[in-house]
Amino acid sequence: MFKVSNIEKEKALLLAPMEDVTDISYRLVCRELGADVVYTEFVNAEGIIRKNEKTHKKLKIIDEERPVGIQIYGGRVEAMIEAARIAESHNPDIIDINAGCWVKGIVAAGAGAGMLKDPVGMQNTIKSVIDSVETPVTVKTRIGWDHDSINILEVAKRLEDIGVKAITVHCRTRSMGHKGDADWEWINKVKEVVSIPVALNGNVLSAEDVVRAFNDTKADAVMIARGAIGYPWIFKDAKALLAGLPIRDEIPYDERIRVCLRHLKLATEVKGERRAILEQRKYYSGYLKGLVNASHIRQELMKILEYSIVEELLLKYEQQLSQLEHAYANFVQV
Ligand SMILES: Cc1cc2nc3c(=O)[nH]c(=O)nc-3n(C[C@H](O)[C@H](O)[C@H](O)COP(=O)(O)O)c2cc1C
Repeated sequence: MFKVSNIEKEKALLLAPMEDVTDISYRLVCRELGADVVYTEFVNAEGIIRKNEKTHKKLKIIDEERPVGIQIYGGRVEAMIEAARIAESHNPDIIDINAGCWVKGIVAAGAGAGMLKDPVGMQNTIKSVIDSVETPVTVKTRIGWDHDSINILEVAKRLEDIGVKAITVHCRTRSMGHKGDADWEWINKVKEVVSIPVALNGNVLSAEDVVRAFNDTKADAVMIARGAIGYPWIFKDAKALLAGLPIRDEIPYDERIRVCLRHLKLATEVKGERRAILEQRKYYSGYLKGLVNASHIRQELMKILEYSIVEELLLKYEQQLSQLEHAYANFVQV
């Protein structure tokens, strides 16, 4: 059972924090398609306390997306405390601490996965954060720094001892980055040493993987990252499979185009038309994957800077696909 804050969910599905991906618009789309909890992209504690404008935008959350966690990272305890207080003023359901980011500059500052090198220091920093806010604090981490220093069991225990409400374990070491197989077996080992909820993360790329993750481990939740980029239906599909229902082989083109436009429309409302259109470009390959003539349409979309023109192009494309579908159906009947 994933029980944190006001959230109480068996086999919860979490949308992972992802930089430049999990902004409000995408979080809303994933919530609408079945994600139980969503997280902001990681937000730099130093940027928060310096009142950096771009950083502060990442703290914005809206009621429609709840439950939502704000994820922060940093290596300096004073900065983490202050940043957590500021994050709390945005009223998230969870404050999540990133202890898993593998990027060089971040770990060098003792933040992200750098925390795993000093479990006592990590414990002290996170305890200071917990003592400074009312909001439940969770932690997302990895199994260890490298293959020879896997310390997730010690870390998980230390985190539970100081009052962390749940942990997400990315079942890779820091030295693996995002490559190689995530070893889910660590989830069962972690569940043996702590009683707080444990979320499994790493290599959950399809709805079938979600089912396998729950069947093979005692995870209370599964956190999906890359599997959700451009394919927010992974949550809906996974929920259907978990309920023993069939899922569609593929999402129909009209639904894909509709969700893509909804995503873009939400993004324009949140961050303005020009930025939304530019940022949406990275999603088109996911939304249009496998559709007839998709690469040509993608190229056209890359040239457009207005929502109304994107909408016009995509709706016209939807019409063409519909005509093709009918022509094919007639041909098969003949
Ligand atoms: C584009 C991208 C951005 C990411 N940004 C974050 C982040 O801001 N915070 C975080 O904790 N992890 C971040 N991650 C890591 C993911 O949350 C996740 O732990 C990792 O991708 C492993 O899960 P997967 O194998 O299902 O992709 C990011 C991953 C990707 C691909």
